[in-house]
Parts: sequence; structure tokens; C-alpha cells
Amino acid sequence: MAVQYKKIGIIGGGISGIAAAKQLSQFEPVVFEATDSIGGVWKHCSYRSTKLQTPRCDYEFSDFPWTQRDNTSFPSYREILDYLYSYATYFDVLKFVKFNSKVVEIRYVGDSESSAGAEYGSLLPGRPVWEVGVQTTQSETIQWYAFEFVVICTGKYGDIPAIPKFPQNRGPEIFKGKVLHTIDYCKLNEEESTQLLKGKKVVIFGYKKSAIDLAVECAEANQGPEGEPCTMVVRTLHWTVPHYSVWGLPFYMFYSTRASQYLHERPNQGFLRTLLCHMLSPMRSAVKIIESYLTWKLPLEKYGLRPDHPFEEDYASCQMAILPENFFSEADKGKIAIKRSTSKWWFWEGGVQFEDGSRLDADVVVLATGFDGKQKLKAIIPDPFRSLLEFPSGMMPLYRGTINPLIPNMAFVGYIESVSNLHTAEIRCKWLSRLVEDQFRLPSVDKMLEQTMKEMEIMRRTTRFYKRSCISTFSINHSDEICEEMGWRSWRKKSWIAEAFSPLQ
Ligand SMILES: Cc1cc2nc3c(=O)[nH]c(=O)nc-3n(C[C@H](O)[C@H](O)[C@H](O)COP(=O)(O)OP(=O)(O)OC[C@H]3O[C@@H](n4cnc5c(N)ncnc54)[C@H](O)[C@@H]3O)c2cc1C
Ligand SMILES: NC(=O)c1ccc[n+]([C@@H]2O[C@H](COP(=O)([O-])OP(=O)(O)OC[C@H]3O[C@@H](n4cnc5c(N)ncnc54)[C@H](OP(=O)(O)O)[C@@H]3O)[C@@H](O)[C@H]2O)c1
Repeated sequence: MAVQYKKIGIIGGGISGIAAAKQLSQFEPVVFEATDSIGGVWKHCSYRSTKLQTPRCDYEFSDFPWTQRDNTSFPSYREILDYLYSYATYFDVLKFVKFNSKVVEIRYVGDSESSAGAEYGSLLPGRPVWEVGVQTTQSETIQWYAFEFVVICTGKYGDIPAIPKFPQNRGPEIFKGKVLHTIDYCKLNEEESTQLLKGKKVVIFGYKKSAIDLAVECAEANQGPEGEPCTMVVRTLHWTVPHYSVWGLPFYMFYSTRASQYLHERPNQGFLRTLLCHMLSPMRSAVKIIESYLTWKLPLEKYGLRPDHPFEEDYASCQMAILPENFFSEADKGKIAIKRSTSKWWFWEGGVQFEDGSRLDADVVVLATGFDGKQKLKAIIPDPFRSLLEFPSGMMPLYRGTINPLIPNMAFVGYIESVSNLHTAEIRCKWLSRLVEDQFRLPSVDKMLEQTMKEMEIMRRTTRFYKRSCISTFSINHSDEICEEMGWRSWRKKSWIAEAFSPLQ
């Protein structure tokens, strides 16, 4: 079958893919979306109680305000999907999307020299660089498309669950009850999810947002005397927050203003700034008041849930979960139980067993163990580029969070995170659009690698969870550098006081 040729292909129709399609719409891109809808995780990875964790006004496209932008409530996943549909409809980008079209293979058809040059090269060289193989739900045959430039937006979460490995004959196959991952739980409707949990001994593995929200849904399904408690198995402790204020101070003051981020390391800071940053470092420990607030506000000591690592390490790795209001009240009622265990575990026919021999009886085991987003990339990116995805430290080296200097004519959107991943994706798509239009040029491959190494080094020094590729402690600097490269002013407010002390991203 003939290969169809277009300039730009985008893979994925979540927040990142739709932002990319909007910003690159002048090139009439083709967007491949594996499922029958846009929205990504908000469509396929949400429970009935899932809400945005980011304040609404921060999770907003710069040219498309929420209708109720001053509403301080956190929108539900349905509201987010509606908002995204309105955006895609308003800017007429749905016409670019090919639904039920899963990219199953990508082939490099560019010059062999351009994959290893000192300069990155033109993003639109006038001839195909990548061929993309697409499987639709209507046909077994793979349809091939050729592109000069491909934007990968397949998402870090969703689609591929991270499933623990078990010793032989001790996996889910020997368990008499039901085992599922949260991604399967998301497919159930309200009635089905309540039936799954009601009156059952449920064990949840994980202590992050998916696990915490599920524990509360489980407790809600088990109200009354017949209700069973649900047990969370917690491996690593993390800081959770009940709301966005600390001792009456808005949370953004601690990390999201220029003044607060001034205390944190950033790439390319000169000697004077490094010195100043060092001298001001005792002020960083002022954020210890967040830890003291959380320990006072939440019964962390009572439930053995106070982490040993600093709060900052969770913030700097974008792992801070907002606690549902009734989490600890359900724990107090005995509907949520906590088991700390860092040991290996496996199944027996009546439940799960830990290395020390202790057992938990279970009817249902839910793996809230996260996702394997890298697998989605490795499945489609061909060698030798696959081996460069995480070169050299297990993190993705992405210049401006977008271009891997060693992979030609390909961009990655949605792989670095910050406080609002919508904003993080959108500004990078604007940058990409101007780059494709040749409004500015990329530095040499070596310079780009040097910059990405500096950023990765900062993440490594800031948090032990650095592999999550989160820039939240230097996000303003990251945006500033992007703006400067595009020839924009990096200061964004009317006065220097607002610039220094109001929230920025
Ligand atoms: C439950 C949940 C809640 C979250 N809450 C927040 C929050 O409050 N604030 C925040 O900032 N971030 C949040 N996040 C992070 C969230 O991932 C981002 O905000 C954002 O929605 C990611 O969008 P994306 O387009 O990059 O990825 P995704 O939403 O994962 O979209 C990827 C899309 O690519 C498609 N796709 C994948 N592989 C292929 C393929 N081979 N071919 C074709 N299509 C493919 C998928 O079907 C999907 O539609 C949350 C994540 C989850 C899972
Ligand atoms: N807005 C929302 O309401 C919302 C809701 C859900 C998810 N999210 C987002 O979606 C993303 C994914 O969240 P997630 O909670 O699904 O996944 P996650 O953040 O990757 O957390 C996975 C959890 O499973 C644990 N785990 C993994 N393997 C395990 C094993 N073998 N045994 C025991 N425990 C194991 C992990 O423990 P360790 O820490 O020890 O590895 C961790 O607690 C995050 O960015 C999150 O913020 C947001």
C-alpha cells in the first residue's frame, strides 16, 4: 500500500497531543490516537472521584480560559474532558485526529549522517525522515505514513500498567480471589466498582494518588456494620497534603514565585548567584514549616505515615498527593488500615504473603502500582534511537524538555513534569512551533546535551526520586529560558513586586 506523506505527525491525543496539534496547526499535522477519544489519562485513567490536583487556573491553556476560572474548586475529570473538547473544537483541531489509530512501529528513513551530526539539522528538511506504521481497529493491515517531523505525545502514565514480578507459582494465578490493576478499575462504572469492593476484604498495593483515592472509594463502599476494612500496603512513605495552604499561607508562596524559586538551584547560574543561593540556603529550611504543619494537621505519627525524607524531595519530584478530605476519618473509623512493608511479597490462595511470613487475607487485591510509560516509547522507537531514550542516566535527556539532541526530527511532549503539566506541555509546543518555522535555531548537539546534563544533575542533587523528571523547583527558570529562546520577554507581570511574589510557572 502507498505511503501517505505529510510534514508533521503527532502520536497521542491527550493534553500534550492536542496542545501540539493546536500550536502546529499551520502545518496541518496528522494526530494518531489509539483510542476513540481525546483526553488520554483523563478519559481512561480516572475513577469516579478523580479530580484535578492542580489549581484550575494553573491547568489552563493560555488562550482559552476556563468558563469559571475563579471557581476555586478542583474540576472533576469530566470537567477537564469537557474543557479539552471545547478547546479542541474552538480551535478546530479535531479534524487532524485519526481515532482508533495506534502507532505500532516507527522506521527511520532519514540520512545516516544526520542522526549523528554536530548540528541538529532542519526540522522540515523537505523529505521524509520517519515512517510511521498505524494499526486501526477496522483493519489488520498496517497503514504507513511518512513524515519530516514527528512529535511523540504518548504520555508517561496510563495504557501500560507496572505489574510487580512474582516468584514462580506465587503469582496471581494461584490466588482464589480477584486481582486487578487500577487501570482495570478505571474501566468499571460506579455500580460495578461498588459491587467489586462492597463487603470484600480488599488489599491495595501502593501509597500514591491512585492508591489513596481508591482506599477512600473502598471505604465509602464499605460503610455500615457489614463493611470490611480495606488495607493499604505502603512501601515508601511520601508527604501528602490536605489542601493548598500552610499555617494560613497560600502554598504557592513556598515554591511557585520567583522569590521562592530564587532559593533553589537552577542551571546556568553565574558565580554570584551560586554564592547568593548558598548564603540564602538556610532560608530554604524555612519550608520545614510545611513538614511541621503537616505533622500537626494530619495524624501521620499515629498511623506511622510520617516520611523520613524532607518534604522538598517529594515536591521536587512532582509526587505530592492531595489527600481526599475523608481519608483519615475513614482510617479512624477502621475502614482503612495501613500495613507498612518494604519486603517482597507474593500470593497464596487466600491472599498475599510477605517475606517475614506474615499474611493478609483478601478477596480482592488491587495493584495501584503505577504505569510503565517508557515501555510505550520503547515499543515504537526503533534502534539505535531506542537505546538513546534514557541515555546516559536512566532519565530522558530532553533539551527544553522536548528535543532529544541525539534523535533527529523528533520531539517529545509530556515527559517532563511540573506543577501544571498542561502549562508545561503548552509552552513547549509554542516553542516547537516557532522552531519548526525557523524563527530561531537550536544550539549545537553538544551544547544541548550539556544543558540537559546540567538540568538532570540539579534534579539528582535535589531529590532521590529524580527519575521522575520533574522541574518544579526551577520551573520559572525553565520557562524563562524557553521565552528568551523564542525572543519573548521572560518577565510576565506588570510590576516587579508582582513578578517576584505572585505565582508563576
Ligand atoms: C489519574 C491522573 C491524574 C492526574 N492529575 C494531574 C493533575 O492534577 N495535574 C497535573 O498537572 N497532572 C496530572 N496528571 C498527569 C497527566 O498525565 C498530565 O496532566 C496530562 O494529562 C498528560 O497528558 P499527555 O497527553 O501527555 O498523556 P496522556 O494523557 O497519557 O495521553 C497520551 C495519549 O496517547 C495515546 N497513545 C499512547 N500510545 C499510543 C500509540 N502507540 N499510538 C497512538 N496513540 C497512542 C493514548 O491513548 C492517550 O490518549 C495526572 C495523571 C493521571 C494518570
Ligand atoms: N489528580 C489525581 O487525582 C490523580 C489520581 C491518580 C493518579 N494521579 C497521577 O498519576 C500518576 C501515577 O500515579 P499512581 O498513584 O498511579 O502511580 P505511582 O505514582 O507510580 O505510585 C505507585 C505506587 O505503587 C507502589 N508500588 C509499586 N510497585 C510496588 C510493589 N511491587 N509493591 C508494593 N508497592 C509498589 C509505589 O511504591 P514506591 O513509592 O515504593 O515505588 C507507589 O506507592 C502520578 O503522577 C499521580 O500524581 C493523579
